[in-house]
Amino acid sequence: MTAPAARGVFVTFEGGDGVGKTTQARLLEEWLSGRGRTVVRTREPGGTEVGDLIRDIVLHHRGEVAPRAEALLYAADRAHHIATLVRPALERGDVVIQDRYLDSSVAYQGAGRVLDGGQVRELSLWAAEGLLPDLTVLLDLDPAAARARLDADDKPFDRLEAERDDFHARVRAGFLALAEAEPGRFLVLDAAQPVDDIAAAIRDRVAALL
Ligand code: TYD
Repeated sequence: MTAPAARGVFVTFEGGDGVGKTTQARLLEEWLSGRGRTVVRTREPGGTEVGDLIRDIVLHHRGEVAPRAEALLYAADRAHHIATLVRPALERGDVVIQDRYLDSSVAYQGAGRVLDGGQVRELSLWAAEGLLPDLTVLLDLDPAAARARLDADDKPFDRLEAERDDFHARVRAGFLALAEAEPGRFLVLDAAQPVDDIAAAIRDRVAALL
């Protein structure tokens, strides 16, 4: 009897800016590759050619973008990314490790207090034809600590990162509320812990999904 084909696994990383998502995504990719899994590492906004064009508008346009237009741009990026890159990879049995997904839309676009988080989520689910991750790792960190990390890295101007402190506090609260509502999907980790401890906790959860 042949072994059943490996099932695709969809893991997303969420959290504020500067919490260490990229480092953890890389460590998880290395570990999975070492175990012989094919990994697709990607991100939103971006991840495709169309997505990179949308990313440029939402992150680098310096004038105003109306809140609903911004939400639709993220949703358009998501629709194309999921349909053309993520679903095909999952169907092949790959592990998809993705930096940000629909929870970012709810937390960020909902945090401006203009849009309703529930509606933003529905929009994303429509865009992605209902695809939810098997696991969402939320790296939780006080926005002041995250800001200090970004300043130390001397990263270029980013429209959303330049938002006020109270905005980032609302984003953080938004993510934590999402995790509380779906404890089965989320793994919430304190991003102030040592990198290796965080990586080990993530590996433990992912191992259970393979
Ligand atoms: P990110 O790619 O993490 O930025 P960087 O590579 O510069 O660290 O995220 C870019 C920004 O996009 C981030 O501030 C959050 C924002 N964002 C939303 O507001 N809504 C969304 O749906 C997504 C995916 C991202």
